[in-house]
Amino acid sequence: MTLDVSDDPAGHAAAHILTNIRATLSPDRPFHLAVSGGQTPYPLFRALAAAGLDWSRVHVWQVDERVAPAGDSARNLTLLRQGLDVPAVFHRIPVEHPDAADRYARELEQACGGVLDLVHLGLGDDGHTASLIPGDPVLNVFDVDVATTGPYEGHRRVTLTIPALERSRYAVWLVTGASKSAALARLLAHDRTIPAGRLRLAHSMIYADPAAAGRLG
Ligand code: 6PG
Repeated sequence: MTLDVSDDPAGHAAAHILTNIRATLSPDRPFHLAVSGGQTPYPLFRALAAAGLDWSRVHVWQVDERVAPAGDSARNLTLLRQGLDVPAVFHRIPVEHPDAADRYARELEQACGGVLDLVHLGLGDDGHTASLIPGDPVLNVFDVDVATTGPYEGHRRVTLTIPALERSRYAVWLVTGASKSAALARLLAHDRTIPAGRLRLAHSMIYADPAAAGRLG
């Protein structure tokens, strides 16, 4: 796990993701990118959208989604489609269906054998990532790739599970703001008492701003 601290972590993260996509894409080899929700990624989405990439063979997946009506501001898809307004192949989590987790897991298996090329992850102040929420039974789900959480901050969530995230070829974290500094220090210490610290990712890069990296000295 490598840390890159800068005043433009979203731009640095976007550059990493674009380099990875360009190095992997070929006429018969699509790229499978999964992105997280929350507010932090919006500048990342804008930087990716502005890059002039041919998105026609890039599949954009959701890492997680809140169970809320279509178009609701709580939905990660709302900000994703506003920010990443590109002609990619989008795979949204169908939270309107009670069996959304099973449907999405099947779609992921059929499209790429359940192996994502790159997953973008955020970090909550409480050390969650994706919708791997502290104390939620989803932290102990290892037999399926997608699961539904209990209520958290007003919504149940449908999320990629630990095995699905760990199977990704690359992980790019984007962490900004002083409120994340304690969680980031624990993530870097592989502190398993926070959900983010439990992930064992093959190749991961963390892009942070000085405020989030503040406690690292
Ligand atoms: C979600 C996200 C979640 C997010 C963190 C950070 O659905 O909430 O997937 O994992 O990355 O909560 O959120 P912010 O970027 O809003 O701080």
